[in-house]
Amino acid sequence: MIDISADISGVHFDSCIMNASGPLDTTLEELTDIATSSAGGIVMKSCTVEVREGNPEPRYVDVEWGSINSMGLPNLGYKYYNEITPKLKSYGKPLIASIAGAESQEYKKIVESFNTSNVDILEINLSCPNVVGRPQIGYDFEMSEEIMGVVGDVSDKPWGVKLPPYFDFVHFEEMASILNNSKISFIVSINSIGNALFIDWETEKVLIKPKGGFGGLGGKYIKPTALANVRKFHELLDKSIKIVGVGGVYSGIDAFEFILSGATLLQLGTSFAQEGPQIFERVTRELKAIMEKKGYKSLEDFRGKLKVMN
Ligand code: DHB
Repeated sequence: MIDISADISGVHFDSCIMNASGPLDTTLEELTDIATSSAGGIVMKSCTVEVREGNPEPRYVDVEWGSINSMGLPNLGYKYYNEITPKLKSYGKPLIASIAGAESQEYKKIVESFNTSNVDILEINLSCPNVVGRPQIGYDFEMSEEIMGVVGDVSDKPWGVKLPPYFDFVHFEEMASILNNSKISFIVSINSIGNALFIDWETEKVLIKPKGGFGGLGGKYIKPTALANVRKFHELLDKSIKIVGVGGVYSGIDAFEFILSGATLLQLGTSFAQEGPQIFERVTRELKAIMEKKGYKSLEDFRGKLKVMN
């Protein structure tokens, strides 16, 4: 038997493969499709204090090797995601709420509301690149530290932060030092690469309407950056902090590479949006086949054991 289960803070996932917050996880109906798939857990759309319609359409477009989006946090408000937790928990999988806000008091309010719900884990989103006029919190280290302080003070649930991609070793080190001094159980790395631009050369136009065409890049384009972030944080973070890898996981090979780099759990965003809920079964089957071929029985057999050249 090949075991691809994983644990975060005492929460057990039968499979390490689940959805990423964002695509197809805004309504109870969409979330039920995830709950009844082979996904190891259920991650809900990032929610805010108020209901949000999000940015004008078109705001998500599939492109050759991935996607570009500028959704603008459309969601049904945190109260909705509190109310549907009993229904979603009835499927027996870990349930993860994703929380977004403009400042620490908004995060506080939502975190407190989930304390009394039966959500298992909180993902604190510090990396939405698509709200007009607002910077990504994860690039503001002081603000990130403040929010982690507030969440740590009020959360009764295990929690972690969803981070934007970093590209500079000094930034990795600064963020890792803040994370190592916080109460987080895990990081989710990476969110989309912010503010990319696609152009239709024939019509001479951008592909999405918000923000002059700029939007978050997802899919195959971002896998090398995602692997680098998982690997660097694996090197820098205390071993008690788990890493949830996201960014361009389409296949069992991709999943294997993320775990080899140090990931404990994996999330599928663009690939799930493109293929639908059956992707969880396919990637699971492919990952198990690779492990079988290599003689690995559990993820611990190879997690983080990437070889470098001397
Ligand atoms: C949205 C995009 C993100 O990358 C994110 O983390 C949260 C929200 C969005 O545009 O809806």
